[in-house]
Amino acid sequence: MTIKTTPVRRNFKFNLPPEQVTKWNPAGYHVTQFFNTLSIFFPVGERFFIHSLRQYRDIVEDPQLRDDVAGFIGQEAFHGREHDEYNAALTAAGLPADKLETQVTQLLEVVKRLPKPLQLGATVALEHLTAIMGDILLREPELLANAEPHFQALWRWHALEETEHKAVSFEVFTRAFGSGPKAYLLRVGAFLLANAIFWSLFYPYYFRMVRAGGQHRDLKGWWRGFRYQWGTPGALRRIVPAWFDFFRPDFHPWMHDNRHFLDQIDSLTQRVESLSAEAPLQEQNA
Ligand SMILES: [Fe+2]
Ligand SMILES: [Fe+2]
Repeated sequence: MTIKTTPVRRNFKFNLPPEQVTKWNPAGYHVTQFFNTLSIFFPVGERFFIHSLRQYRDIVEDPQLRDDVAGFIGQEAFHGREHDEYNAALTAAGLPADKLETQVTQLLEVVKRLPKPLQLGATVALEHLTAIMGDILLREPELLANAEPHFQALWRWHALEETEHKAVSFEVFTRAFGSGPKAYLLRVGAFLLANAIFWSLFYPYYFRMVRAGGQHRDLKGWWRGFRYQWGTPGALRRIVPAWFDFFRPDFHPWMHDNRHFLDQIDSLTQRVESLSAEAPLQEQNA
């Protein structure tokens, strides 16, 4: 299935209020740190995606796909810039975001020395992960309900753009390697490897973030965080079926046709504009 959604570069600035960085989600500290831990991975991860796609740019002859790749690169670059600011606020709040990010950077430097096809496969794999996480954020408004507006807008923006560009790396991968058994094994092998590495880092990092804030002995907090992910509303539980779809030989990102969410981009744009119009007032009042 091919759905045409050319990714559009949106140079949005969110001006996140740094003092809210550990409490922006009213679902609690452990839920807020769940998102914050994800944010640690984004800037360096997204720069790696850009790097791996650039290595295959020359094989793309289709002008439409070339535009899509350019849009993808632009979107991920802006995500990286805004999550850099986000992560700087985490570090300023006394959390080990910078140390953990350095570890991810070092790991990705090793990955960059692996064969290029595996690097592109890892990007396709992780783009599936970001696409299905973005989808659940858009599908279940409760996940960001009553959140601090700047953080809420940033996560909605990221979810919408991950949706908009979710098939780009997959299309480049298919142009490069086709869709035969070898391509399947490469894609699925990279998916298993990328998930094994990502999740084995994510949960220890999540724990370290919560511990740095002194909330690691709060069992009720952990339980709320666990329920949020794996119970109700189930941010991760509900992406499991779509996660498994990656193993289908006929998998395509748009087999999960959620393009109707892209209708929200106009209202998000207005929201971001009204939030940035508020910023100078806040500065004057400060
Ligand atoms: Fe992104
Ligand atoms: Fe992405």
